[in-house]
Amino acid sequence: MAITKCCVLLLVPLVAVLVAADQPRVDYYSETCPNVEAIVREEMERIIAAAPSLAGPLLRLHFHDCFVRGCDASVLLSSAGGNTAERDAKPNKSLRGFGSVERVKARLETACPGTVSCADVLALMARDAVVRARGPSWPVTLGRRDGRASSAGEAAASLPPADGDIPTLARVFASNGLDLKDLAVLSGAHTLGTAHCPSYAGRLYNFTGKGDADPSLDSEYAGKLRTRCRSLTDDGMPSEMDPGSYKTFDTSYYRHVAKRRGLFSSDASLLTDATTRGYVQRIATGKFDDEFFRDFGESMTKMGNVAVLTGADGEIRKKCYVIN
Ligand code: HEM
Repeated sequence: MAITKCCVLLLVPLVAVLVAADQPRVDYYSETCPNVEAIVREEMERIIAAAPSLAGPLLRLHFHDCFVRGCDASVLLSSAGGNTAERDAKPNKSLRGFGSVERVKARLETACPGTVSCADVLALMARDAVVRARGPSWPVTLGRRDGRASSAGEAAASLPPADGDIPTLARVFASNGLDLKDLAVLSGAHTLGTAHCPSYAGRLYNFTGKGDADPSLDSEYAGKLRTRCRSLTDDGMPSEMDPGSYKTFDTSYYRHVAKRRGLFSSDASLLTDATTRGYVQRIATGKFDDEFFRDFGESMTKMGNVAVLTGADGEIRKKCYVIN
């Protein structure tokens, strides 16, 4: 009896240590793949040096991953065997950067086979994309596992719509544990990258179904947009979302939004709620860039923790586009 009691007393802390070791944390790979961050950083330096415009798409991939089934790399799986995967859903048709993710993952598989998840690769690449674009850095919690399912229907239902108003966007963010401040902060990611005409043409040509423009869009800016986006169906040249500095992570996005020059209705809607408007106007002054950089790292960390798989759930994919 005494022996049994003593064994239990010894086992309880051991189990606690083992469980804790399995939980996501910044140094999750310190024993199993100590160079993971250096490898991702080195590859990202090469990728962004060769194609600076990939910083935005690589940041967006992590967001589109986390908002559908949590951060489990489900966005990377290819459609197969009659299943249409997330990446083939309408809002994901414009995602880019899949080849770069496979390239980084392949290097990690050589260095530490079967160890680093694709979900973690996405989180690290998103952070390093922001760093390469002269934005902030933040510690990335690691230890996510990869999911085995991916559904286009789920992606279409879970991602926030470009024409969303504040109640809609707030609901989608809240379902991922993110609040109105996170919405205002993470929308700042639109400081990077470009958008295709169908994402905003409705604001130029058919706002209320009568061939009219969105009155909340600055009319001079709308005129400029019409030269790049010629009709509701034009899918030609993409437009910079933060004109003038779309490859640099900075606060000028907020100045555009404050002047009613946000590209999507979702950007413009930030001016319609007291919390999000207050944030836009504060950062737009240009006096609080450090605050925005810090907030962005914090909101990205929150987003990166959404419904993460741990323990025996999921797997560590060998290739990111296919389950093992
Ligand atoms: C608030 C809700 C959001 C909506 C409605 C939204 C919508 C969109 C749309 C429609 C595009 C353009 C797609 C195209 O036409 O090519 C886009 C691009 C982009 N989004 Fe968002 N987004 C949101 C939040 C976010 C968040 C939270 C992030 C990252 C943390 C993000 C990062 C990006 C980036 C970097 C691009 C540019 C991608 C490129 O250059 O290809 N977005 N977004």
